[in-house]
Amino acid sequence: MTSEHLISSPVVARTRGGLAKQLLALRASGEKGRESAIAFVPTMGALHDGHRALIAHARGLADHVVVSIFVNPLQFGAGEDLDRYPRTWDHDVAVCADEGVAAVFAPTVDTMYPEGQLVTVSAGPVGELFEGARRPGHFDGVLTVVAKLFNLVRPDVAVFGDKDAQQLLLIRRMVRDLDIPVHVVGHSTIRESDGLAFSSRNAYLSPDERQKALAIPRALDAAEAAAAFGAVRVRAAVLSELGAQPGVDVDYAALVDPDTLAEVHDAHSGAAVVLIAARAGTTRLIDNRRLEIG
Ligand code: PAJ
Repeated sequence: MTSEHLISSPVVARTRGGLAKQLLALRASGEKGRESAIAFVPTMGALHDGHRALIAHARGLADHVVVSIFVNPLQFGAGEDLDRYPRTWDHDVAVCADEGVAAVFAPTVDTMYPEGQLVTVSAGPVGELFEGARRPGHFDGVLTVVAKLFNLVRPDVAVFGDKDAQQLLLIRRMVRDLDIPVHVVGHSTIRESDGLAFSSRNAYLSPDERQKALAIPRALDAAEAAAAFGAVRVRAAVLSELGAQPGVDVDYAALVDPDTLAEVHDAHSGAAVVLIAARAGTTRLIDNRRLEIG
C-alpha cells in the first residue's frame, strides 16, 4: 500500500458492471503479473470507529480494501428500523478515503435485488437462537446478502466484527458449509471511552438512555471478573448488574458455547461467550464477551 492510497478518495461503484470494472483494475495492479489480493469489509454505512478498525485491519491483510455500504432490507423485520437506519453518505466516503479504501460498493436495493429474492440462504437452527428468535428471518437475510456480496466482490479475505458474535459465527459456518472461497477474519469489539460498544444505533440514544446503556458493558466486565469462579457466578454477576439498572430492559442475557450457542451447564469450564441484548428506551443494543470459565 502506497501513501497515495491514504489520501485519494475511493472509487465508488453503484452497479455490478461498475464494481466488476474496478475489481479488474485492482486485481491487475499487482507487480510482475501477480494478481493483487483484495480484502473486503461489508457494512451498512453510518461508519464509526468499529468499522474503521475493521478497515484498518483489512488493509494489513491484502493489497486493496473494498468496502460495501448497503442497508440490506432483507435482514430487517416488519416494524424494525429499516426506514430510519442512519445514512451518512458523505461522512462514510470521507472515512473510507481516510482509511485508504480503494473502492466502495454502494448498490441500490434494485441493483442488489432486481427481481426480489426468490432463493435465499438458510441460517439453520443456530440462526433461530437469540437474535434470530427475536428477529425471525434476520440471519437468512444477512447470509443471503453476504453470500451475494462475496460472489460480486470475490475477495480473498473478509473482515467482520466480534461485536455481532452470532452473525460472525453464522458467516463462518456458511463459508465452510457452502465452500465459499474466502478467508473470514474476526476483529475485536471497539468501544467508546466509557465502555459502550460502537454501534450505528447508538445515534438513537438520548443522553440519559446512553448513560443507562452502560449497564451492558458493566455486566460484561462483571462476567469477566466472575469467570474464575464458574458459570453460576458469571450468570449471577451479569443479571445483578443488568437488574440494578432501571430503564434497561433485558431481552436476553446468556452464557453460551462459542461454537453452538447452546447454554453452557453450571459445571462448564473452558471457553464461553456472554451474549446480551437489552433495550434502553426504544433502542435495542447487543454486546458480548468471550470468557474462559474456571
Ligand atoms: P454493520 O452493522 O454496519 O457492521 C459492519 C461490520 O462492523 C460487522 O462485521 C460488525 O460486526 C462490525 N462492527 C460493528 N460495530 C463494531 C464495533 N463496535 N467494533 C468492531 N466491529 C464492529 O453487520 C452488518 O453491518 C450487516 O449485518 C452486514 C454484515 C453488512 C450485512 O448486511
